[in-house]
Amino acid sequence: MKTKTNKKMTPDNRPLHRMFSKVPARYDLLNRLLTLGLDQRWRRKAARTCLKSEPRRIMDLCSGTGDLAIELARMTSPDTAIIAADFCQPMLDVAKNKAVRYRLDNRIGFQIADAASLPFDDGYFDLISIAFGFRNLTFKNPDTDIFLAEIFRTIAPGGRLVVVETSQPESVWLKKLSALYYSLVVKPAGSFISGDGGAYSYLAYSAKNYFRPTDVSRLLTNAGFVSVEYRPLWAGVAAIHAAVRP
Ligand SMILES: C[S@@+](CC[C@H](N)C(=O)[O-])C[C@H]1O[C@@H](n2cnc3c(N)ncnc32)[C@H](O)[C@@H]1O
Repeated sequence: MKTKTNKKMTPDNRPLHRMFSKVPARYDLLNRLLTLGLDQRWRRKAARTCLKSEPRRIMDLCSGTGDLAIELARMTSPDTAIIAADFCQPMLDVAKNKAVRYRLDNRIGFQIADAASLPFDDGYFDLISIAFGFRNLTFKNPDTDIFLAEIFRTIAPGGRLVVVETSQPESVWLKKLSALYYSLVVKPAGSFISGDGGAYSYLAYSAKNYFRPTDVSRLLTNAGFVSVEYRPLWAGVAAIHAAVRP
């Protein structure tokens, strides 16, 4: 395993790092409430997509409170190594405690890592998963190209990237309805319950204005991935993308 340091940006001075350091206490509760539990179903579907290729070394990047890493650990045998990586220690602390509660802590390695400078050798993983963190890496983020290059670098040739993320529904009415939901429910309820208005304003704004699935596919293709596919979830409110590193 190799360790590199990013000279330009350190995790501590990234605005998103400050934001995610403040929300872990209520993060899971709000996810369940604001999606009516759908977020876990979507992660489970993403986990099943991940495991189609029977990966042996997985990194769940932007793992946060670890829900997808835990799902992957549940669905695999101990032959599969799983690393939950995130640049925010308080989020990973919640993930670790949760893994202990589920007796899965021996199945998951927890690694502090900035997606801009992943502390892993080229081609180390045969699968990288990202649940609801891809938007953070790619929406109006000046370091998007660096993140994508690091993700690409650390996946082995033939390995896969699987992303589950909020998306834009095809239907204009559903798009309007989901925009209203983000503005009138997610933003105020998230701000009130978490006590962090900034984080949930960002969430509502970025989700409302995030890319269409075809835009995400183009981003992945431009980053060098091939066989890029997506599957809309709940009429396109979210989507799972899968791509292969050639
Ligand atoms: C919306 S949360 C998603 C957490 C989790 N995967 C889930 O399914 O709920 C986004 C996570 O991405 C992490 N993150 C954002 N930018 C990052 C970066 N540059 N490097 C590593 N982690 C990052 C945040 O710390 C946060 O835990």
